[in-house]
Amino acid sequence: MLEKLAEIKSKAIDELSSLSDLRELEAWRVRYLGKKSELTQILRGLASLPLEERKAVSASANELKAFFETSHRENKESLKERAYQEMEAATVGRQITLPTGIPSAETFGIPDVTLPGRPIPLGRLHPTTQMLCRICDIFVALGFQVVEGPEVEWDYYNFEALNIPPDHPARDMFATFWIETESGQRPMLLRTHTSPMQIRVMERTQPPVRVVVPGKVYRYEATDATHESMFYQIEGLAVDEHTTFSDLKGTLYEFAKRLFGEERRVRFRCDYFPFVEPGVEMAIDCMACGGSGCRLCSGTGWIEILGAGMVHPDVLRRVNYDPEVYTGFAFGLGLERIPMLLYGIDDIRLFYSNDLRFLRQF
Ligand code: DAH
Repeated sequence: MLEKLAEIKSKAIDELSSLSDLRELEAWRVRYLGKKSELTQILRGLASLPLEERKAVSASANELKAFFETSHRENKESLKERAYQEMEAATVGRQITLPTGIPSAETFGIPDVTLPGRPIPLGRLHPTTQMLCRICDIFVALGFQVVEGPEVEWDYYNFEALNIPPDHPARDMFATFWIETESGQRPMLLRTHTSPMQIRVMERTQPPVRVVVPGKVYRYEATDATHESMFYQIEGLAVDEHTTFSDLKGTLYEFAKRLFGEERRVRFRCDYFPFVEPGVEMAIDCMACGGSGCRLCSGTGWIEILGAGMVHPDVLRRVNYDPEVYTGFAFGLGLERIPMLLYGIDDIRLFYSNDLRFLRQF
């Protein structure tokens, strides 16, 4: 039986190489994959074989079937392409009778423009870009401006100016990619968060300030389902006279409702970030279970989505804002986490591995 299969295979391959059009290919398919083909008969008859033989034959017969199916698919594509090219070639040279004096299309080597065009695959925005636009739009509607900043950053902006001097333990929160610099030059790095833009914006503008900063950030970490060495954050900063913690809460509450739905509840809890005082983390009630506890929210009913706080007076002083006059709030959120929550994506690495099967879903 195994020899028989080998024989069918070599015959089919021989015939395949001499097919010249789609009709012949269809006949080939019927011959080798059709109901009455020898292969189908063998597969049908498996049950009547003794166990040992059945195992061996079944494996090879199924393998052959898969091989025939793939060959059929591949040949169909290439024959289609060939047919199309032949048709196109035939129409380019076609004689068109036109009144004398008017050059025909073929004079210019133009193919027949009345042929249906080849379909052009439609592109789309990357899911990260889509989410980024959606979030920025919300903040723009709330009166924020969108600005961007450098990904290669000075230690000063990424750490020092944000109250994180060289020996500060908070540096451990940010596994950093350092950039080699000449000795004596100021230390440089790939920004580990978008917060350095708080300083850059305040250095060059006077209050009132209201900005959001989307962009890439980098962390020197092993990657896994929830960690990437490059990901996106969106930073927010609002500074003015009389800006209070209520403004922070009101703004972020509004944001959460616009992004996650009107019925969302939010929770603020104390957290620590050196550049804000007080610092908080904001969570929303779980949209999967409504707060009763499920896998998405690890049974807690809440999902943390961002860090925030009132800008630390020392940070304001560093950019020559008088903390007795001006106060402000800041926040930072990890962007990919949001589509992950909204669409149930369980691995952050999918975003940047360029698998079209993933990307085409958005
Ligand atoms: N930069 C912080 C991080 O990457 C997030 C953050 C927390 C930003 C609090 C803020 C803030 O502006 O106020 O973990």
